[in-house]
Amino acid sequence: MQNGNKKLYIETLGCAMNVRDSEHIIAELTQKENFEITDEADKADLILINTCSVREKPVHKLFSEIGAFNKIKKEDAKIGVCGCTASHLGAEILKKAPSVSFVLGARNVSKITKAIKEEKFVDVDINYDESEYAFGEFRSSKYKAYINISIGCDKKCTYCIVPHTRGEEISIPPSIIINEVKRAVSNGVKEIFLLGQNVNNYGARFSDKTIKKMDFSDLLEMVSEVEGVERIRFTSPHPLYMDDKFLKLFATNPKICKSMHMPLQSGSSEVLKRMKRGYTKEWFLDRALKLREMVKDVHISTDVIVAFPGESDKDFEDTLDVVKKVRFEQMFSFKYSPRPLTKAAEFKEQIPNDIASKRLKTLQDLHTSIIDEISLKQKGKTFSVLFEELKSGGMIAGRSDNNFMIQAKGSEEYLGKIVDVFITNPKRMVLYGEIVE
Ligand code: SAH
Ligand code: SF4
Ligand code: F3S
Repeated sequence: MQNGNKKLYIETLGCAMNVRDSEHIIAELTQKENFEITDEADKADLILINTCSVREKPVHKLFSEIGAFNKIKKEDAKIGVCGCTASHLGAEILKKAPSVSFVLGARNVSKITKAIKEEKFVDVDINYDESEYAFGEFRSSKYKAYINISIGCDKKCTYCIVPHTRGEEISIPPSIIINEVKRAVSNGVKEIFLLGQNVNNYGARFSDKTIKKMDFSDLLEMVSEVEGVERIRFTSPHPLYMDDKFLKLFATNPKICKSMHMPLQSGSSEVLKRMKRGYTKEWFLDRALKLREMVKDVHISTDVIVAFPGESDKDFEDTLDVVKKVRFEQMFSFKYSPRPLTKAAEFKEQIPNDIASKRLKTLQDLHTSIIDEISLKQKGKTFSVLFEELKSGGMIAGRSDNNFMIQAKGSEEYLGKIVDVFITNPKRMVLYGEIVE
């Protein structure tokens, strides 16, 4: 990275795609505009907030944050708002918060060098195609590389704002992805993390019509053939596209980490229909249980929304039932949050907040008891772990192939290495163990 005399402070909210967008922004500004990164907002010449708008809370937070930055920033420092909230609020942000200098949508990140030079620049075009834009290289992790494989999302689940902030789905050409993989491993990266809102729909649409038809399984195979790639992860796959070909490749390719995100959203087929998820409770259970059968020690994570409009007690029971049957190793759960531009926000029978809170607590309590049992069962097992981080007390931390957070006694020499760890003391969030030499 070039050292410059201007300082950039960037805050990243939301999902892994935003993390990657922030890396792209940093690459553009440090390589083309002489910025360097700072973690002190009061010393920055440019403060960027890379926003998420998937639920209402982070959107509210944005305006209080702008206010807080405004108080501490250097007098001539600029504040810019990027990401998904930028996409859906656009110029309204400038009206509501006049201290903001520019607004750049989640699909317009490549225009960051332009945005910083123009007064009150706004570009939130969700039809803009940056699927073939060649960004500079910046990675926040030495050992793990996030790589985008598609932009946007075509699914239009009725609760979700993402298709309105990131636009229609376009797959990034395989040649660009493979070059990025090669560049990352030549810089010492061990783990490739493929990103998209709907990764296993890869290949549905390329901008360049001459690209040969291919699907996500084909892409996974191409990535796994790159010399130096040791681990492959991806997020988010959609349960609807988990066909037998995909599950078989997942089960048998040794480089693909045995950790699958299966966003359930609801266990009720009726609710799933109104969410427009495209699968039923039975399909989801069939896929998840088949995965358990095919892959020993597979780690399945999920996302669940409670209190979607019209969700009855019986519907909620179905969600609990799926959670009991699949016994997810990790669960992210949310109260339904009505979002602008989405169909579900117009649905009648919005669920009162007290019921939503109660359901969320019931679900989370159930899941906590499940993960406590799962954690205990890991005692005496050996996992291969990529160590990434030094912790206090002479400990190091990393993730097992199947995505458990693991800590062991060890020093810097293990960072970036994949080693076996024997689990001696499993806890809810972290499995503690010993390195097997
Ligand atoms: N493409 C991913 C999801 C991205 S959004 C997928 O389909 O799995 C991440 C998660 O936020 C979703 O899985 C969902 O559980 C949650 N979410 C999205 N919109 C929401 C809303 N309106 N209210 C509450 N949670 C929501
Ligand atoms: Fe949203 Fe559905 Fe697309 Fe996921 S698949 S980003 S939940 S519309
Ligand atoms: Fe949030 Fe946009 Fe990601 S809404 S979850 S940052 S796609």
